[in-house]
Amino acid sequence: MNYPVSFHLNGKLIAVQVTAQESLLDVLRHRLGLTGAKEACNEGNCGACTVLLDSLPVYACMVLAVEVDGAAVETVEDMESEELHPLQKAMIDQQGLQCGYCSSGMLVTAQALLAHNSRPNKTQIREALAGNLCRCTGYADIIKAIQVASRARR
Ligand code: FES
Ligand code: FES
Repeated sequence: MNYPVSFHLNGKLIAVQVTAQESLLDVLRHRLGLTGAKEACNEGNCGACTVLLDSLPVYACMVLAVEVDGAAVETVEDMESEELHPLQKAMIDQQGLQCGYCSSGMLVTAQALLAHNSRPNKTQIREALAGNLCRCTGYADIIKAIQVASRARR
């Protein structure tokens, strides 16, 4: 059985039919074609699927699509424009990515952090990223990239 769900996705109101079991991640990737949020563990352990739900980072694999009815969802695709977002630029410049599988989740989490703390210190960045795993970089360059981006935004 399908259920109608409507929500704001990257600022645009959309309506979609979903099953009761479908996760927000499934709907984003398989029904709406937004593949920025990655499917990795699919059980709430890695953060590769992180999106913003009413401005807060959540694991899209752990949110049922029916739960987002009436909400606002932002994905990494919301950063897309003709120029790189400062966080994207800093992540590249500071070599904060290797395979890139964690990167969209890192960017979205960092975006939420900078929205309420425009100048986070290293400890605050580490705390914010606690739910986002990276198997490649060792985190130091990601943290540096977020600090660089925070300075670029001011
Ligand atoms: S894929 Fe969602 S937390 Fe790992
Ligand atoms: S860059 Fe490969 S998991 Fe983070």
